[in-house]
Amino acid sequence: MGKAKKTESGSGGKGKKLKEAARLRRQLEKLMERAKSEYCEVRNSDIHGTGVYASKSIPSGERVIEYIGEKIDKEESERRATAQMEHAGKTGDAAVYIFTLSKKWDLDGNVPWNTARLLNHSCAPNCEAWIEEKQIFLYALRDIDTGEELTFDYGFDIENYEDHPCLCGSDDCVGYIVSRDNWPELKERLAGKKKVDGTGAVTS
Ligand SMILES: C[S@@+](CC[C@H](N)C(=O)[O-])C[C@H]1O[C@@H](n2cnc3c(N)ncnc32)[C@H](O)[C@@H]1O
Ligand SMILES: [Zn+2]
Repeated sequence: MGKAKKTESGSGGKGKKLKEAARLRRQLEKLMERAKSEYCEVRNSDIHGTGVYASKSIPSGERVIEYIGEKIDKEESERRATAQMEHAGKTGDAAVYIFTLSKKWDLDGNVPWNTARLLNHSCAPNCEAWIEEKQIFLYALRDIDTGEELTFDYGFDIENYEDHPCLCGSDDCVGYIVSRDNWPELKERLAGKKKVDGTGAVTS
């Protein structure tokens, strides 16, 4: 009778799993560290739901926070966007956290440690998103005072604009979450909706 002994593949398999778990934990810790910003605090927003506010003054041009997420290909992105929109339709929750990274890749920022996912859109934003070396950062477009809500232009195209009414409250608000590049087209569409009644008055 021989002595009982674990097979090499058995013990090796467990060791590999532990190593992989440790690697993933380190990766997650790094991501969580990258997602932090000395400039940001999260609280209820005047625009919508939860927002991000300046915890101290931010000089123009300063990098404010990184938008962290999972890199996914366009097919997966489409699948998740549809699922998130369906979920939002049912629950009324704020929905899509997917950012375009390149022609091939997107970034899904729907993870709790990604504080930047909570920035709301504004028609007069104080931040701007930039892609740098496959990472996304938000930069201050002007000097920002402590306590101001941080916002950026979501860059939405004009399709289905009616699904995204804008409540940013700025003097410049065009009424819908639509990229500034699409404002001329949006304004034309909105003007086209207006009808002249029998008295000559213009109504929506
Ligand atoms: C990525 S979330 C931003 C965080 C959101 N406030 C929350 O509480 O989860 C994007 C969603 O916030 C809402 N939102 C952002 N900016 C808005 C705005 N200017 N007007 C109305 N709703 C806005 C929309 O529902 C949008 O789909
Ligand atoms: Zn607006």
